[in-house]
Amino acid sequence: MLNDRSSILSLLETRRSGKPRELVGPGPTPVELEQMLTIAARTPDHGMLTPWRFVTVADNQRDAFEALLQQALIESEPDAADAKRQKEHDFAHYQGTLVVLVSAPVPDHKIPVWEQELSCGAAGMNLLHAAHALGFTAGWVTGWRAYAERVRAAFCAPGERIAGFIFIGHPSRELEERPRPILADIVRHWQPSET
Ligand SMILES: Cc1cc2nc3c(=O)[nH]c(=O)nc-3n(C[C@H](O)[C@H](O)[C@H](O)COP(=O)(O)O)c2cc1C
Repeated sequence: MLNDRSSILSLLETRRSGKPRELVGPGPTPVELEQMLTIAARTPDHGMLTPWRFVTVADNQRDAFEALLQQALIESEPDAADAKRQKEHDFAHYQGTLVVLVSAPVPDHKIPVWEQELSCGAAGMNLLHAAHALGFTAGWVTGWRAYAERVRAAFCAPGERIAGFIFIGHPSRELEERPRPILADIVRHWQPSET
């Protein structure tokens, strides 16, 4: 049990994101992906509204995904430089498996949308941890495309929006650690003010 606990702690302490453009395949098998999404769905959710969804983009849909991004780019930036168009080509064909995380809050509910969006973020984080636990590296990105109406409408129902594109694969080079917040800067012990 202690070993289990220390390996879980070690997973939590070592997870870090990979840059999606640097990931290589293969992505998870269908069974592994189902396990990841099951873990991701095991997320705190006030009111049990399930205010998030996952949309997978199959490898054989990547050309169609690129066509969608290119169309959205033309609409948002008709004079986009070739380099920008190339970037969307590359983005659509990043290796590994692509999961689009969709925020799907229930409007006009007694549970505030803010709390529902927090739950969506937690589901995304859970997916990153699940990917790591299964021996993969994941990267969560957004960019202009996450906010483009054409792209939103292709993945979301009205009122929903894209919370992120999560690519799951393997790093092509050793992942570098990034600076982490200094606890003393982000933790304080609350004291009631004397008024
Ligand atoms: C909602 C959200 C959107 C993000 N979008 C981008 C992005 O578009 N481009 C990017 O380089 N990093 C983006 N990031 C940051 C990376 O996913 C990641 O947090 C960063 O590379 C460090 O990862 P780590 O702290 O998990 O190691 C985003 C993170 C979140 C939570």
